[in-house]
Amino acid sequence: MKLLVCGGAGFIGSTFVRQRLLEQGDEVTVLDKLTYAGREENFHDFAEHPMFHFVHGAIEDQLAVASAIDHSVPEAIVNFAAETHVDRSIAEPDAFVRTHALGTYVLLEKARENELRYVQVSTDEVYGSIEQGSFTEESPLRPSSPYSATKTGADLLVQGYFHTYGLQAVICRGSNNYGPYQYPEKLIPLMILNALHGDALPVYGDGMQVRNWIHATDFARAIGHVLEHGAAGEVYNAGGPDEEANIDVVKRIIAATGAEESQIEHVRDRPGHDRRYSLSSEKVRALGWRPQVRFAQGLEQTVAWYRDNAWWWEPIRSGDYRAYYERQYGRSLS
Ligand code: NAD
Ligand code: TYD
Repeated sequence: MKLLVCGGAGFIGSTFVRQRLLEQGDEVTVLDKLTYAGREENFHDFAEHPMFHFVHGAIEDQLAVASAIDHSVPEAIVNFAAETHVDRSIAEPDAFVRTHALGTYVLLEKARENELRYVQVSTDEVYGSIEQGSFTEESPLRPSSPYSATKTGADLLVQGYFHTYGLQAVICRGSNNYGPYQYPEKLIPLMILNALHGDALPVYGDGMQVRNWIHATDFARAIGHVLEHGAAGEVYNAGGPDEEANIDVVKRIIAATGAEESQIEHVRDRPGHDRRYSLSSEKVRALGWRPQVRFAQGLEQTVAWYRDNAWWWEPIRSGDYRAYYERQYGRSLS
C-alpha cells in the first residue's frame, strides 16, 4: 500500500512505519510537525529506505497536508499525530485542542476531497476510568482530562465524516503502550531512566492505579489489521494482555535495573487521575489480531533497550526535558 502516516516521527507512529516498510513492503510518507516528542532519530534504521519519505509539517496546516498528499498520492491516511501526555494537557491544554480538533478536521477534509481511506489512532482514555470489567466499543465515552476529552472530540468528528459523507474511516483505540523509543515523560521510560541514574521514582498518590499494558509492536500490528480489514465507520479496541498497578510496574523496573526501593517517592496525585483502564479486544481479535508480547518479558526487553541505547535518550535527558521535569516534579534530575 501507499500510506501517508501523520505523526510517524513519534513513539508508536515510527514503530508502525518500521513494520509497514520493512515487513509489509509498503511505501510510506511521514508528515510530522516534530514537536518535542517527534524525532528524526526514530527513523535511524530506515531513513535511507527508497520507499520512505519524510515531510516536515503540521496536520492543522492545510497547505502542508495538501502538499504531502500531492507528493505521496496515498491510498490511506493513518493519523497518529497528537499531543499525548496527560500531565502536559493539564498544565497547557492549548496544543491539544489545536492538534486534535483542528488537525483532525484538516486531515478528514483532505481524505474526503481525495477519497482516501482514513485510520484514526485513538486511546482507551476516551472511555474514562473503570473499576471492574473491561470497556467494549459500545461503552459510553466519558473522558476526564483535556488530553482524553480532545481525543474523544477527534473520534466523534471522524464518525461524523463517516455518517455524513461516507468517508471510509475507522478508529483504533489502544491501551497504554510501552517499548523502545517512548519519550521519557511517560511512566515506564521515566522510571527506567531515573532508576538507572539513581534519581527518585515519583509515584503519583498511592500508586494503585491500574493500566492495561500493550507493547507498541502489538498495537502497531493491530492498527495494520484495522487499516486492512476494518469495516468503515467501526471502532476497534486493542488492549494488551496484562494489567498492573503502577507501584508493581515500578517494583519490576527496580528489580530489572538493580535500583533501590528507597528511591520510590510518593508524590502529589495527578488531578482527576483515572483509577483503572481496561480494554476488551474481541472485535479486533475477530479480524485475526492477537497481542504477542506479555508484559513481564516486554518490560525486561524495554529496560535492556534503554540501557543499551543512551545515544537515543541522552540528548532528551540533557535538553528541554530537564526544564519540563523541574516544572512538573519540582526537583532536578541528576
Ligand atoms: P508521541 O507523543 O510519541 O508522538 C506524537 C507524534 O505526533 C510526534 O512525532 C509529534 O511530533 C507528532 N505531532 C504532534 N502534533 C502534531 C501536529 N499538529 N502535526 C503533525 N504532527 C504532530 O505519541 P505516541 O505515544 O506515539 O502516540 C501516537 C498516537 O497513539 C496518539 O494519537 C495517541 O493518542 C495514541 N495512543 C497512545 C498511547 C500511548 O500509550 N502512548 C496509547 C493509546 C493511543
Ligand atoms: P502515563 O505514562 O502518563 O500514561 P497515562 O496517564 O496515559 O495512563 O502514566 C501511567 C500511569 O502512571 C498513570 O496512572 C500515572 C502514573 N504516573 C506516575 O505515578 N508517576 C509519573 O511520574 C508518571 C509520568 C505517571
